[in-house]
Amino acid sequence: MQLARYAFLLQRRLGLVRAWIPPTEGLPRWQNPRMDAEELIAAQIAYYRARAIQYDDEPRHADNDQRRPEYLERLRGDVAELDAWLEADPPTGHVLEIAAGSGNRTGRLLGSADRVTAVDAAPEMLDLLAAKHPGVGRIQADIFSWEPPQRYDNIYFGYWISHVPAAMWDTFWDLVDRALVPGGRVWFMDNAHPDHANSNGPGDWPEVAEERQIEHAAESEVRTRRLRDGSEWTMVKRFWWPDALAADLGRLGWTAHVAHTDFAFMYGTARRSAVG
Ligand SMILES: C[S@@+](CC[C@H](N)C(=O)[O-])C[C@H]1O[C@@H](n2cnc3c(N)ncnc32)[C@H](O)[C@@H]1O
Repeated sequence: MQLARYAFLLQRRLGLVRAWIPPTEGLPRWQNPRMDAEELIAAQIAYYRARAIQYDDEPRHADNDQRRPEYLERLRGDVAELDAWLEADPPTGHVLEIAAGSGNRTGRLLGSADRVTAVDAAPEMLDLLAAKHPGVGRIQADIFSWEPPQRYDNIYFGYWISHVPAAMWDTFWDLVDRALVPGGRVWFMDNAHPDHANSNGPGDWPEVAEERQIEHAAESEVRTRRLRDGSEWTMVKRFWWPDALAADLGRLGWTAHVAHTDFAFMYGTARRSAVG
């Protein structure tokens, strides 16, 4: 088993993985290149359930972030840009926060919304959110098999777009459409494309550091991540360039405005394009 694993990692490193598809039998699930969308979604939920225990304690979420001063200063500038963007034209009314996680960004929504409802697949994440924001409605559901019980005035999701598998991309935006009142809007942010972060940033970009932790095929959306206890998990990380994202949302009938911050983030809004 171990031998098969190392052979597979070596093949990936040498870029031979396309020429050699390892047999499914006997391989752990996370190494299976044939993993389908359903398995990927389940694996990703399992990863976040396991990660919840350390999530708010990770450098990027912790108050006592100890990373390099230059990096932190540049990052603060980018966070300020995101805050200004949300404050200038914030989501109002009843806001649905998709993949709300432990509620790290929910407080920002509460400043402008009348009400916030958070949906997330990980009950452990929702428990953390409830402790921070007891007034926020909580729905535990896998977003890919969830049917919204109502329409919401506006929708927000942070660090979520990159976790939507390509196979579920169109289905996801259909769901967003069904969850939104006509004329409602979507606000989103995520990590910048690594090439943007690498060429404009001060280094130490967490996504790049994490990517280094474990080998992966650069062209694949499937990533392996390691938690503090040493356990390894499969998840999806699919980066977007702002123009490509806006164009793809246009294909799906949305008018989107998407930009990068100085180096660390990608953010934007989308609303249904007028028909006719
Ligand atoms: C990177 S975290 C983002 C959390 C939060 N939005 C933030 O900014 O910190 C991704 C979140 O997506 C949730 N998630 C993963 N797969 C999901 C799914 N299929 N349906 C709903 N939530 C899911 C995870 O539980 C996790 O809380």
